[in-house]
Amino acid sequence: MYDLVIRGGTLVTPAETFTADLGIRGGRIAALGRGLAGDHSLDAAGLLVVPGAVDPHVHLQTPVGATQSSDDWASGTRAAACGGTTTLIDFVEPDLGASLLEALAARQAQAEGAAVIDYGLHMTLLKTPPAVLAEIQAVVQAGCPSFKTYLTYEGFYLDDDSFLSALESVAAAGGLVLVHAENHALIERLRQRLPAAGQTAPRYHARSRPVGAEAEAVERAAALAEAAGCPLYVVHISTDRGAAAVARARRRGQAVYGETCPQYLLLTEAELERPGFEGAKFVCSPPLRPAGHGDALWRGLADGNLQTVGTDHCPFFYQGQKDLGRAVFTEVPNGLPGVEARLALLYTFGVGTGRLTLNQWVHVCCANPARIFGLYPRKGTLMPGADADLVLFDPNAAVTLSPERLHENVDYTPYDGLALRGYPRLTLARGQVLAEDGAYVGPPGGGRFLKRAYGKDH
Ligand code: URP
Ligand code: ZN
Ligand code: ZN
Repeated sequence: MYDLVIRGGTLVTPAETFTADLGIRGGRIAALGRGLAGDHSLDAAGLLVVPGAVDPHVHLQTPVGATQSSDDWASGTRAAACGGTTTLIDFVEPDLGASLLEALAARQAQAEGAAVIDYGLHMTLLKTPPAVLAEIQAVVQAGCPSFKTYLTYEGFYLDDDSFLSALESVAAAGGLVLVHAENHALIERLRQRLPAAGQTAPRYHARSRPVGAEAEAVERAAALAEAAGCPLYVVHISTDRGAAAVARARRRGQAVYGETCPQYLLLTEAELERPGFEGAKFVCSPPLRPAGHGDALWRGLADGNLQTVGTDHCPFFYQGQKDLGRAVFTEVPNGLPGVEARLALLYTFGVGTGRLTLNQWVHVCCANPARIFGLYPRKGTLMPGADADLVLFDPNAAVTLSPERLHENVDYTPYDGLALRGYPRLTLARGQVLAEDGAYVGPPGGGRFLKRAYGKDH
């Protein structure tokens, strides 16, 4: 007898699609089979039953310049749950020279009691002095084996020497380096030159960060990671050439993983041309690209050269935050909202168009992020023993996206007006219903910090 049986749904795992019941006991998946009996049951006939989605790239409650991202741990994780995401990985952003372990403890304390879904944390490495690099091993042991580095952004970026030190230290500790790969010198030059020539509108944000800035940095990051013997995860790849550099590294046998995001798959730099200051709603880094790059990224996901779709959810209100940059694009806070709609967007525009199979959809949104970041098979798949984190997904639901429909704490969505076919009906985490038909119905603050280890399962 199970606590709950999900009856008669079409189960989609990374490997298979089949009709079965799913039995849950003690918050875990206990059985997949026919005719299972439970204290309670949910009819899933006509629905897809997929693993709770895992978003490996989220910035909640994160200071950026003079402001901070507008979703906090409570609002951001509720929005995630409403969209079928049951695990996310955010970041610890220690001050330069500060203790990594102390920053980790402070960030965990901030999420504790507020997050409604389980979460992990990546540790950001700045130009870290040796005493702080020495903490990396302890950070890995504390359950954070993934370290974020930036090759651009004033105050954050690592030169080659510092990046190599980070790669070597993380490799020695058995961890994985994430990299935001854009060429700093080129971007800084353009960020000064364009405004000086009167080119201040949001559209010039894209011109200040050309395709070559990403292509060069991905290639360089992969070469330095190879020399240091460090696994590398390239976040938010936006270009065909960035994706090709990851594919080349993988072909030569390197542990290099590539992530892209819905905004790079679905939107183009034309959004930055919107009238007035509206283009600011689409300012993120790397920037949206000319048409054509999205097709290359979809192909990368389908052929396995790109492994994951994260959201890089980093929301700012248009009124009151994005407009800090009315005078000049360099002052617009960088980032887009997106934590809620990822699973459904990838279904409509991936599975619905034939670009991805059902199983590839589950790979890129659920299983691969869980595998790469040490959460699999507890998260990211449907098998006995895994946490009962599930989405009952209605492939026929018609939903038009709007800020009113979504739960993100922000006054717009970059996907406003998009008509979706397919949307989560129910989201369960550890066997408990968190969201139903787009409304949060779970308890406050039940999310747990997930201790992770790199290389457990891939
Ligand atoms: O524009 C973006 N992507 N903002 C969030 C920070 C980052 O670079 O990932
Ligand atoms: Zn970034
Ligand atoms: Zn990011």
